Amino acid sequence: MTILVTGGAGFIGSNFVLDWLAQSDEPVVNLDALTYAGNLGNLKSLDGDARHVFVQGDICDRDLVEGLLARHQPRAVVHFAAESHVDRSIHGPGMFMRTNIDGTFALLEASRSYWSKLEGDAKAAFRFHHVSTDEVYGSLKPTDPPFAETNPYEPNSPYSASKAASDHLVRAWHHTYGLPVVTTNCSNNYGPYHFPEKLIPLMIVNALAGKPLPVYGDGQQIRDWLYVKDHCSGIRAVLAGGRLGETYNIGGWNEKANIDIVKTVCALLDELKPDPAGPYSRLITYVTDRPGHDRRYAIDARKIERELGWRPAETFDTGIRKTVQWYLDNAAWVADVQSGAYKDWIGTNYGGRT
Ligand code: NAD
Ligand code: TYD
Repeated sequence: MTILVTGGAGFIGSNFVLDWLAQSDEPVVNLDALTYAGNLGNLKSLDGDARHVFVQGDICDRDLVEGLLARHQPRAVVHFAAESHVDRSIHGPGMFMRTNIDGTFALLEASRSYWSKLEGDAKAAFRFHHVSTDEVYGSLKPTDPPFAETNPYEPNSPYSASKAASDHLVRAWHHTYGLPVVTTNCSNNYGPYHFPEKLIPLMIVNALAGKPLPVYGDGQQIRDWLYVKDHCSGIRAVLAGGRLGETYNIGGWNEKANIDIVKTVCALLDELKPDPAGPYSRLITYVTDRPGHDRRYAIDARKIERELGWRPAETFDTGIRKTVQWYLDNAAWVADVQSGAYKDWIGTNYGGRT
């Protein structure tokens, strides 16, 4: 048996592939275009491992995907590939529509064509697992209950709108064609191999470089945070036991304001790698807010717990400590990432902010 993973060289995808192969010998075919966010260095430990077949390619290329499905006969497609950064979607939404909507459409069509030719047990066992985000539900007020799977979709950014569109396509392919799909909507992930354009890794690498720590607006926006390996175990649980056509929210029960996240990162760095120049919090700099910035996300993860017995293994305290330590231990990975296209992006995003 084999699974086909898309976007397996990105942050969550590479953690998923590493975790998968640490727990089983079921091979992974990993289709990834290696955009700025894809990094084969994340998968270095799998060099020479026959269980990992890497294919550089675009999910929009339906012929390529159909060929891979026909050749490798996977029992599941786990679909991570996406453009994933909200700020980038504001500066240039086009790629988000292409990859997140057209790409998911191409993948669904290729999967439907493959699945319709399967027979018996192989046809019954096949799954298309779509990995999505809590951002499709929009923004919560301070006293609103957390997002449940039944919340209406109210996406506010080009990124979340494109993910919402992809979720709708996946749903429709199940209802119209019977494609056996499951969808997971997860909160903000953090952990190893997180590209340092997102809040937590950006704060760690900037602090270590003595650079400003840019907090958007008043820093009181709230996110729910989940350690990436807990997301991976949640996906495995839904892939194994999720009901067809259902969506499952995955979250960490960790609502935190951005400014508190940044202060926590600073305090951990003060403890683990003190800076003779003074506490890292001296670098905190409030900058112009993100346009249309969602105020609060929170996840009600009771459905996945009730139906599948999944709960996160890490608390925020244990997860963030592991994460900061990982960045301290992996300075070479950070340097490698920073020597690439990442540098240009910093100019585009922060150049115009005061
Ligand atoms: P990422 O940006 O780190 O990685 C995306 C990967 O997809 C990269 O390896 C990239 O090369 C690849 N890719 C992009 N376009 C492609 C294309 N056209 N064809 C093939 N590969 C392509 O993203 P991530 O943070 O790992 O997120 C993975 C998935 O999880 C996304 O679907 C995202 O929407 C979802 N998600 C992310 C978070 C989070 O906090 N990061 C939370 C919830 C859901
Ligand atoms: P991010 O990591 O981009 O994830 P998302 O927008 O998908 O939630 O941002 C997390 C939060 O941190 C979000 O409210 C925006 C904020 N933020 C900053 O305050 N400064 C920054 O430099 C970045 C990248 C994000």
